[in-house]
Amino acid sequence: MKVRACRETVVNFCCSKFAAIFLFLAVFVFIFVYFNMDVLEFFFSPCLCHITLPPCQFQHKVITTFSVLRLHLQHHFCSFQPQSPEDALEECLLLDSIAWPETPSLPDPLSLEQTTDPAHSIFTILPEKGGRQWHVGDQLEVMIKMYDFQGRPKNSGGDVLLARLHNRALGAGVAGQVLDHLNGSYSAVFSLLWEGSAQVEMTLVHPSEAVTVLQRLTKEQPDRVYFQSVFRSGSVSETTTCNVFLHPTQQPLCNYTDLHTGEPWYCYKPKKLSCDARINHSTGGVNPKLKAREEKLFKSGVNMKVSIKASGSANVNVLPKMKGQPEVKSSSVKSGPSGYYYQDTWRALGGTPVHQFNTSSASQCLKGKVVHMHGDSTVRQWFEYLTAALPDLKEFNLHNLKQVGPFMALDYANNILVTYRCHGPPIRFTNVPTNDLRYIANELDELVGGNDTVVIFGIWSHFSTFPIELYIRRLQGIRRAVVRLLDRAPDTLVIIRTANLKALSLVEALTISDWYSLQRDKVLRAMFKGLNVRLVDAWEMVLAHHLPHNLHPQPPIIKNMINVLLSYICPQEGN
Ligand SMILES: *[C@@H]1O[C@H](CO)[C@@H](O)[C@H](O)[C@H]1NC(C)=O
Ligand SMILES: *[C@@H]1O[C@H](CO)[C@@H](O)[C@H](O)[C@H]1NC(C)=O
Ligand SMILES: *[C@@H]1O[C@H](CO)[C@@H](O)[C@H](O)[C@H]1NC(C)=O
Ligand SMILES: *[C@@H]1O[C@H](CO)[C@@H](O)[C@H](O)[C@H]1NC(C)=O
Ligand SMILES: *[C@@H]1O[C@H](CO)[C@@H](O)[C@H](O)[C@H]1NC(C)=O
Repeated sequence: MKVRACRETVVNFCCSKFAAIFLFLAVFVFIFVYFNMDVLEFFFSPCLCHITLPPCQFQHKVITTFSVLRLHLQHHFCSFQPQSPEDALEECLLLDSIAWPETPSLPDPLSLEQTTDPAHSIFTILPEKGGRQWHVGDQLEVMIKMYDFQGRPKNSGGDVLLARLHNRALGAGVAGQVLDHLNGSYSAVFSLLWEGSAQVEMTLVHPSEAVTVLQRLTKEQPDRVYFQSVFRSGSVSETTTCNVFLHPTQQPLCNYTDLHTGEPWYCYKPKKLSCDARINHSTGGVNPKLKAREEKLFKSGVNMKVSIKASGSANVNVLPKMKGQPEVKSSSVKSGPSGYYYQDTWRALGGTPVHQFNTSSASQCLKGKVVHMHGDSTVRQWFEYLTAALPDLKEFNLHNLKQVGPFMALDYANNILVTYRCHGPPIRFTNVPTNDLRYIANELDELVGGNDTVVIFGIWSHFSTFPIELYIRRLQGIRRAVVRLLDRAPDTLVIIRTANLKALSLVEALTISDWYSLQRDKVLRAMFKGLNVRLVDAWEMVLAHHLPHNLHPQPPIIKNMINVLLSYICPQEGN
């Protein structure tokens, strides 16, 4: 809704009789911002400068009208700002599209009384009176009503909810779509895809009040995950702190901003050594600071990842498909599921059918291929799975650290090469040699590509603590590289692994909450929509499965992901 409003204002603006007045105002505000930016930057750390940007709606108008002016101003904004007016406009639309409903401000001192309580909340299968018959192909609707710890109905939205429909005995499961009515009630909609019993499971991930805290942490402590680098020359060695942005101090900075992609990275300059002496990169740790009692909003079993009870039955019995009922299909159907489990096997709804590969058909599929994997540890899992599953695919010992890589595996007989390399900073790995810090976009630019080349990437979990603008910017760079790759070698297969749900402790919630991942996942999907790339929908594949949420999903889920992957590579082969 908001996005449409943005576009309309841009269009209307051109024909509006107030255009002249507006023009004047826009110039005025911009000049004001221009001359105050230095002052603002002086007082605030660079990481906070994004809050000094004009609000989104306003930016639209200005970007379209004054793109040249804005380009000129660009060096005054923080370093992870968009690279072009087009990027800025896209960022603005993306931010609108993921805008979370306004969440309640917290009572001071914090008490849980008026916050969402999953134990008091209930869901009901509609129609409430029952008596309806369900058939395969129908949609099931569920109404969820949220209450606080005092048992009073909530009247605002913003709770983070997950919906799943499943049947353990059939090995069946599918994700549901949740709609926030912004008044304390939510709907969940499910596609009915199998015959027999289906049980609704609703989970509160976070109360809306916890989202208030998560948002504030990103604003106030975007550097709550910090990094270190070791500098060394001869026998002298120093360690300093590094990040996407650093609070200005007396200490000078080393600027490691990537010249090709423009991705920012800084370390404090070591006292004795030069910036060139940086040898490795590590996560320093995490340091999220909560206000008194806020940790109560992130209690497993109380208000974090807790099931909501049904009023009445949580089950429906699904009858065979009625004659003439259209097939449920195509992930392109608005917000429908991309697939579902049946007999513990992932089936795609629309798109490429998923085949089941065994060791020999998998090797056959990869024969003559070069598979490059890039990203975080959730992509590394695929590398590890393939090298473990395929006996002839032998990992070549490059003497690299187990977690970090880069890794390479070869199957000589079948002429298969599989590689893995982690993405660039802010990668939260330990002891990455600086020479192995590579940005995915740069790696893609080095590839020739072609019909024997498969490029896989997954990049999300290490971005969760930073302002989402950093992630948008990173993806814009990667997307440009993907477009260049597909322009020069259209037969190259590009596969993207999406984000997934994970188990949450307090510290994990504050650094890599599913809410952060959800927001990034939406951005990822929106940004690669319409490009000739395939998605492995890790989000739904973890949500729909009966195994617990895990940053590194368990082998049965990985096996299904690999089958999806191989089905993209070899749509004709397998079973
Ligand atoms: C909340 O909004 C939904 C959708 O508009 C409506 O069906 C529901 O009755 C409302 N609930 C309350 C408690 O007002
Ligand atoms: C760091 O280097 C980049 C690229 O040369 C430059 O655009 C940026 O302004 C520099 N940052 C600072 C704080 O000097
Ligand atoms: C950095 O690199 C050095 C030399 O390779 C290594 O000994 C050290 O363990 C690495 N990490 C840290 C944190 O020093
Ligand atoms: C792949 O590309 C090469 C070189 O362009 C071409 O010779 C070959 O026939 C192609 N293979 C397939 C299966 O399309
Ligand atoms: C593997 O799958 C292929 C093709 O689907 C099939 O022909 C073959 O018999 C299977 N091999 C084994 C060992 O199951």
